[in-house]
Amino acid sequence: MKKILTAAIAATTFAGAALAGGHGGTADLGEPIVVRKMMMGQMGKAMGHLAAMAKGETAYDARVADAAFRTMASVALGFGSQFPEGSETGMETRASAAIWSDRDGFDAAVAKLLADATVAIDAAPADAAAFGPVFGAVASNCSSCHETYRLPRS
Ligand code: HEC
Repeated sequence: MKKILTAAIAATTFAGAALAGGHGGTADLGEPIVVRKMMMGQMGKAMGHLAAMAKGETAYDARVADAAFRTMASVALGFGSQFPEGSETGMETRASAAIWSDRDGFDAAVAKLLADATVAIDAAPADAAAFGPVFGAVASNCSSCHETYRLPRS
């Protein structure tokens, strides 16, 4: 419960940052396709930091890993709500129709990401050797969900 609360606080912080918007403007939070793409953009940035450390391109930094895993957990908390009926198409979304036809499967994929990111936060790997497998478990969520629930680039 305490873990969920911590993640919820992180999500609130994330929403605050989203409200402030990027590029000097205010992000349109009324538009779920914009919000979910923005959330996955944060996911991509967090992944970039983690992957660089996993490949040894940058030195392992436990603080950076913790921040990146927390970003992923907070995105996972809010992501599932960004697919209401009526947001299936438009705005160059790559969301697959499978999200709406298999909502339980999609929700389970989101929940798995949250669970794995929470395990990674709690593991708090102290060095690169400990980080490797923890990172791998979280990273496997990206492709497995994208394969089923994200359309290929058109
Ligand atoms: C539960 C499913 C799910 C998981 C897990 C997931 N994604 Fe995504 N991701 C999506 C969907 C769906 C889209 C397409 C959203 C749209 O276009 O409306 C997407 C889009 C993206 C995008 C493109 C964003 C944009 O600007 O259009 C990036 C980058 C991304 N994901 C990175 C990641 C990374 C990195 C991970 C793993 C840490 C990850 N995703 C995990 C479902 C998921």
